[in-house]
Amino acid sequence: MISLDVNGTVHRLEVDPETPLLWVVRERLGLTGTKYGCGIEECGACTMHVDGMATKTCQLPAGSVQGKKILTIEGLPEDHPVKRAWIAEEVPQCGYCQPGMVMAAAALLAAHPRPTPAEVDRAMDANLCRCGTYPRIRRAIRRAAERS
Ligand code: FES
Ligand code: FES
Repeated sequence: MISLDVNGTVHRLEVDPETPLLWVVRERLGLTGTKYGCGIEECGACTMHVDGMATKTCQLPAGSVQGKKILTIEGLPEDHPVKRAWIAEEVPQCGYCQPGMVMAAAALLAAHPRPTPAEVDRAMDANLCRCGTYPRIRRAIRRAAERS
């Protein structure tokens, strides 16, 4: 039995504590916004917030984040500046990488409300987009920083 605080709700779940958080969230909680990409912590598709930090979850044992606050793309408010900027800049192409991108950007702006281009590059470096939406992602982060 493990206990997880996801998007403000505490869930008690009969799962192996070694199960990656991504799979507990997707398969046990039915929150499928967070995507599975590489499975080896290389692409960032599985990024959630753990105590406010952008965190890859495809290899993170769910048992290790008990007592921490987990936030998924579903838990980020619809009027969050990053979500609004993503829509305004029409960022997604196929969309697959985007939940992870949005969560990485939201964590960046929470820590650095006015990030420099270098800080943006550093924060987003761990997230890959096979469609190459990087220029629109940068524009959206700039827009969100200006509006937040
Ligand atoms: S699925 Fe986790 S980093 Fe790629
Ligand atoms: S929008 Fe397709 S992978 Fe990024």
